[in-house]
Amino acid sequence: MTKKNRILVTGGSGFIGSTLVDLLINEGHSVIVIDDLSTGLSSNHNESATYINEDLCRYIDHPEEIITVLQEHNIDTVYHLAASADVFLSINNPEKVYKINVLASIALVRACKKTGVKKLAFASTSAVFGEPKYLPVDEDHDTNPISPYGLSKLGFEQYLNYFSIDTDMSITVFRLPNVYGPRQRPDLEGGVIAIFYGLMKQSQPIHMFGDGQQTRDWVYVDDIANAFYKALKNHEKFNIFLLGSNTETSLNDLVACLVDVTGYEENPQYGAIRAGDIKNMVMTYSKAHQSLNWTPGTTLSEGIAKLAKEN
Ligand SMILES: NC(=O)c1ccc[n+]([C@@H]2O[C@H](COP(=O)([O-])OP(=O)(O)OC[C@H]3O[C@@H](n4cnc5c(N)ncnc54)[C@H](O)[C@@H]3O)[C@@H](O)[C@H]2O)c1
Repeated sequence: MTKKNRILVTGGSGFIGSTLVDLLINEGHSVIVIDDLSTGLSSNHNESATYINEDLCRYIDHPEEIITVLQEHNIDTVYHLAASADVFLSINNPEKVYKINVLASIALVRACKKTGVKKLAFASTSAVFGEPKYLPVDEDHDTNPISPYGLSKLGFEQYLNYFSIDTDMSITVFRLPNVYGPRQRPDLEGGVIAIFYGLMKQSQPIHMFGDGQQTRDWVYVDDIANAFYKALKNHEKFNIFLLGSNTETSLNDLVACLVDVTGYEENPQYGAIRAGDIKNMVMTYSKAHQSLNWTPGTTLSEGIAKLAKEN
């Protein structure tokens, strides 16, 4: 029988975190979640997991409390997904985003080291790259974030590298592309698929910033959760993996896919481009394939069909 782990998922009430919690529970692991429900929902909760409703920022001044949580639950693995993930909030309120994405995250990793956690995996982002110099972006591409959100994620990645120096803990950083699927909230800024799908189902107008020719890299949430799961078996000291699809899709092509499942009959409305938006982005996944045997198995049309079935 394979070993069962005792796992903490921060942000486990959110879109990706709750999908991961369900997978871990299905695989027989023991899971606790810390989440303040700032963007997560209790309706995402799994009845077999234990939930602690707490703001991680509390642990900046009270590190002993997170140490106690890790010790009491005998945690060996931590998935750190709690974050402020709103690029435009980060432009207007960089201090708030820095506090959770960097300071509270440092308090967490220090507690992990102190309590002998064996594995830490962190949800980073393609936003660490800024405007790509070439496509598809790979692990060798320079990082040059153009938002405080991207800066905060890159900053914490570097802290993780620093904290990995004198520890046995294995640290895995995943740079995520645009993730989509059930439970993504259409009322938040990030998920264009959730937003467009909701509007198109109700035959409401959809607005694009620019001409719709901008491209993105969409990966289905189950595939992302699966990569985190596979990281359990990776014991390398410090690694950064890109979880791209290697498939560039324009916003116009995305809308065509959504038309297939919603029967939408209107034309999209095009407006001015938005400052801070990147024109084209797609990442590879070859290193994750090599080391974790991971592939983004779900095509965009398959993923959208699954989304339509569940929502
Ligand atoms: N969704 C994407 O396309 C995408 C892309 C790149 C990276 N990511 C990263 O993946 C992670 C998960 O993203 P998501 O899309 O599931 O977002 P989400 O907002 O659904 O999940 C984040 C969770 O963290 C919780 N949280 C936020 N601040 C907290 C705090 N101070 N204390 C405790 N809990 C807190 C929220 O309540 C929420 O449940 C984030 O770190 C995000 O930066 C997501």
